[in-house]
Amino acid sequence: MIKLSHIVKTYNPGTAKEVPALRDISLEISKGEIFGVIGLSGAGKSTLIRIINMLERPTAGTVEVHGQELTQLSEKELREARRHIGMIFQSFNLLSSATVAENVAFPLQLAGTMDKAAIAKRVTELLELVELGDKAQMYPAQLSGGQKQRVGIARALASNPEVLLCDEATSALDPKTTSSILELLTALRRKLNLTIVIITHQMEVIKECCDRVAVIDGGVITEMGSAVDIFIDPKQDLTKRLVSAAVRRGLPELLRHTQVVSEYHEGAKAVVELLFLGPKADAPVIVDVAKECAVSISILAGNIDHIQSEPYGIIVVEIGGSRAEIERAINEFKQRVHKVEVLGYDERKQLSEF
Ligand SMILES: Nc1ncnc2c1ncn2[C@@H]1O[C@H](COP(=O)(O)OP(=O)(O)OP(=O)(O)O)[C@@H](O)[C@H]1O
Ligand SMILES: [Mg+2]
Repeated sequence: MIKLSHIVKTYNPGTAKEVPALRDISLEISKGEIFGVIGLSGAGKSTLIRIINMLERPTAGTVEVHGQELTQLSEKELREARRHIGMIFQSFNLLSSATVAENVAFPLQLAGTMDKAAIAKRVTELLELVELGDKAQMYPAQLSGGQKQRVGIARALASNPEVLLCDEATSALDPKTTSSILELLTALRRKLNLTIVIITHQMEVIKECCDRVAVIDGGVITEMGSAVDIFIDPKQDLTKRLVSAAVRRGLPELLRHTQVVSEYHEGAKAVVELLFLGPKADAPVIVDVAKECAVSISILAGNIDHIQSEPYGIIVVEIGGSRAEIERAINEFKQRVHKVEVLGYDERKQLSEF
């Protein structure tokens, strides 16, 4: 649906103010996908999303949306192509002097292809779609942030786009309102088979609704994959930092108290992190392994969470027994849970009593 190939964007090229904002970005987004782009401030996220609808022209590279190569189009052709690409913003960008209904009607009037009655009917439909049917005659100042963004979404969807671009669309909202907007986007994707690109600096947003994610840093993609993979197994330091901000593992505190060392020594217990993924997240694996391997297992910390609607759990256990028994238990866990990481060995023998 969207294909960016070798996109380079340099602002003010050849001047003292030259900024290399994007350096060789390539990515493909499929129809119906919710794709997230995450990065720190200045990473190039807004530049990237503005290139998808050619609000910003790339210095080099090609932009294909819905089978059309946009960099080759004239301004007039581009205006037509943009009707297939809606966009919403952090600051909502509503006209304060116009009612909710007028804000949503605006792009339809501008397109000039529908008469007044048809526009009124479409506006009613759109407001119902975003659950604002009763707010048509209100002004933006009378709405909450979440309601304003719903108006922004209705307006962006007025021309029936295939693609919806969201630039920090929830960054001005509190967590609860953010969730309700992300739920709405997920529902719209299903109802309208929309392709959605979400730019954010909040990993929580990615966790809640994205299928895949690209991490961008200094104008390059440093890591890309399914949201589940990025959360469960981040490879790069920046990704790890972003993930750890959104996933509460409760580990640093734990490690401080337990004096975990990296080397095994006689009589030590192993401190092991188990990652459960999917519907089996609550399987009685720990009890089973304890029985089968004749080891003692105590739970030190645990946390259950969701990526989209997929449950996952991170449980830190301490395994006691002979060295061979501990190793066997670790191998058994490797067969039965998504990921096993040995965090170290407990210095003291009686941690569970502490
Ligand atoms: N119009 C412009 N002219 C010159 N430089 C620009 C322009 N727009 C952005 N930049 C620069 O390009 C780089 C990337 O900016 P961009 O706005 O894409 O980052 P961002 O990831 O969206 O950041 P934020 O999270 O703060 O919104 C930054 O160094 C920025 O200063
Ligand atoms: Mg930005």
